[in-house]
Amino acid sequence: MANHALLLSSFFFFLLHFGAEAATITVRNNCPTTIWPATLTSGPGQPQLSTTGFELARGASRSFTVPAPWTGRVWARTHCSNNGGRFNCLTGDCGRGLSCNGAGGVPPATLAEFTIAPGGGQDFYDVSLVDGFNVPASITIQGGTGPCRSSNCRADVNRVCPGELQVKSGNEVIACKSACVAFNQPRYCCTGEFNDPNKCTPTNYSMIFERQCPDAYSYAYDDKNSTFTCNNRPNYVITFCG
Ligand SMILES: *[C@@H]1O[C@H](CO)[C@@H](O)[C@H](O)[C@H]1NC(C)=O
Ligand SMILES: *[C@@H]1O[C@H](CO)[C@@H](O)[C@H](O)[C@H]1NC(C)=O
Repeated sequence: MANHALLLSSFFFFLLHFGAEAATITVRNNCPTTIWPATLTSGPGQPQLSTTGFELARGASRSFTVPAPWTGRVWARTHCSNNGGRFNCLTGDCGRGLSCNGAGGVPPATLAEFTIAPGGGQDFYDVSLVDGFNVPASITIQGGTGPCRSSNCRADVNRVCPGELQVKSGNEVIACKSACVAFNQPRYCCTGEFNDPNKCTPTNYSMIFERQCPDAYSYAYDDKNSTFTCNNRPNYVITFCG
């Protein structure tokens, strides 16, 4: 009897503290071609999600749940193929095949970043171009309370990407590196003496991204942190190319 009661209360404890707290992230593909979204959990001690990579046909969407707390990112891989049984992608490749299993994507790739709080607390989320851009992306919010603004980069930055930042496939620009990724210099990466929000200021390169996508992070100390927050366990929709 006592054991049953204990089991039952453990079960409800589990539901209350884990099940009920999960947030749903839906990924939609508005791009004209198939994409291969990937997820990476980066919060210390947090396990990878049930999916770390999948194929998503044009027009399709797929949802998965994330526990709370959870810190991680979602990005799209493009131009993927199975060459001789080896799956790889020209942008966002994680080097592990379709499932990334804890590996990040090779930059440049547009990132949708999340810090989901436990207990219906304050979530942080943003679209980041700090590692560059591959496809447009937007995060929209369902439910929740607070600002809950959409963070997005709907412009095609590849069209205005300067030559020194371009990633090309044939003649087509398929991604645009950030200056940090292209030149690996402290003033672009906000490292070394520039590891300070007051010293790492916008550059001519970060301004290209900022002008195209003012609601996305354009460099590491871009001052947008407080802007994209939402409380009370909203769900999220990430739309690539829309
Ligand atoms: C940005 O500035 C650097 C030097 O400060 C210059 O070499 C480069 O050509 C500039 N690039 C663009 C796209 O304005
Ligand atoms: C924003 O700042 C808070 C407080 O410093 C930090 O906990 C959080 O991780 C930051 N969020 C993002 C998305 O950078």
